[in-house]
Amino acid sequence: MSSKPFLRVIGGSVRVPTLSRGEVTYANLDYAASAPSLVAVRDHIEEVLPFYASVHRGAGYLSQLSTSLYESARNTVREHLGGRADDLVVFTRNSTDALNLLARCTPGAVLVLDIEHHANLLPWQSHDHRVLAATRSLSETLELVGAALEAAPYALLAVTGASNVTGEILPLRELAILAHRFGARIAVDGAQLVPHRPVDLAATGIDYLAFSGHKVYAPFGAGVLIGASDWLDAGEPYLLGGGAVRNVTIEHTEFTNGEARHEAGSPNVIGAAALAKALQVLHDSDRGEWLAHEARLVTALRVGLDAIRGVTTIRIWEDSTDSVGVVSFAVDGYDAGLVAAYLSAEHGIGVRDGRFCAHPLLAALGIPAGALRASIGVGSIDEHVERLLVAIGELVESGPSWQYEIQDGRWIPKNDPRRFPDWAPNLPGTAGAAPCAI
Ligand SMILES: Cc1ncc(COP(=O)(O)O)c(C=O)c1O
Repeated sequence: MSSKPFLRVIGGSVRVPTLSRGEVTYANLDYAASAPSLVAVRDHIEEVLPFYASVHRGAGYLSQLSTSLYESARNTVREHLGGRADDLVVFTRNSTDALNLLARCTPGAVLVLDIEHHANLLPWQSHDHRVLAATRSLSETLELVGAALEAAPYALLAVTGASNVTGEILPLRELAILAHRFGARIAVDGAQLVPHRPVDLAATGIDYLAFSGHKVYAPFGAGVLIGASDWLDAGEPYLLGGGAVRNVTIEHTEFTNGEARHEAGSPNVIGAAALAKALQVLHDSDRGEWLAHEARLVTALRVGLDAIRGVTTIRIWEDSTDSVGVVSFAVDGYDAGLVAAYLSAEHGIGVRDGRFCAHPLLAALGIPAGALRASIGVGSIDEHVERLLVAIGELVESGPSWQYEIQDGRWIPKNDPRRFPDWAPNLPGTAGAAPCAI
């Protein structure tokens, strides 16, 4: 078995303190929350950073370079996602921002499933919307979506591309055809899909796609909403200020069209450049090897967890056939928060625990108290997966070797001797502040 990452990431060899094993290389199994920067992205940012200057409004040479960097990042994003000529590429802060923007611009009722991350649920709650309960069968769920779309007029079907809890991928082409058949558009929350699979909007029939740079190996604060211009040009901007306007009087503002309408204020040039570079590097890599690397690791993870007595992996659908590198699981007799604290403190492994900002889904799956989630990406190696499996096996066999307690609602090791570096002071609550997990 190869133990090489598919692409080099920053921090791949960072060492962290443990309670019983001294320092170990960090096993980052939390890519679904935030992925490390690609080395190629960091190199690109280092290359362009000396030329960074004000964008759009500056006449200086560096301003012109920065403007070109920013605007060409849009073209790169459009090109790599199969965007159509009239699709806008709006740079946002993240997927949440992108979906809130879309909600603001959607001119009619919206259909969503109850499996969604809160980012694709909450923005619709103040909108005319219906939440459809998924069943344990994907094909039956698709039939229900079709029936709902047929029964009432919807402007939009808003679905996730891949579940952030189970990694299961939705059949987007099929859903797009369904939505279009009944006169609706389809928006895809691509936060978990874009980091793992090439996405082609035109070929799939996706009208809008939202995703985050920090999950796609470009953690520099940018996200994207890409899609048809008409709704975005007609939609009321929700971020008001400079850059988004044609003309302003004391009484009245005339907003501009195009991306600028929704990008008020100074744009995140570096974030956009990083995100575009990351897509380019992913898509220029060997697609077969990329998918094979992930398939090998996620299969090892799933099969290994299923083989441990008392461990249950979680799925939404009994008949789904494809998933990305995200696996959630529960360990009998152990609170998920305790297991996550143990994995970190005794094995140097980072996973996520809690309800993953998908409370309705966890409730529907009958695990309202939460679970654990291990997720991988292009920087993952076999040893990280193997270490997790050994650690969970040891936990099940003999329990943790340290004592743990709950503080401020989070499990932590008692009398933890590990210290944070000076640049990250160990503030009260820092160790476990995970609002989404709770
Ligand atoms: C499926 C899905 N959608 C949306 C989001 C929100 O992403 P962000 O926090 O970058 O806005 C996440 C984050 O975990 C996610 O997994």
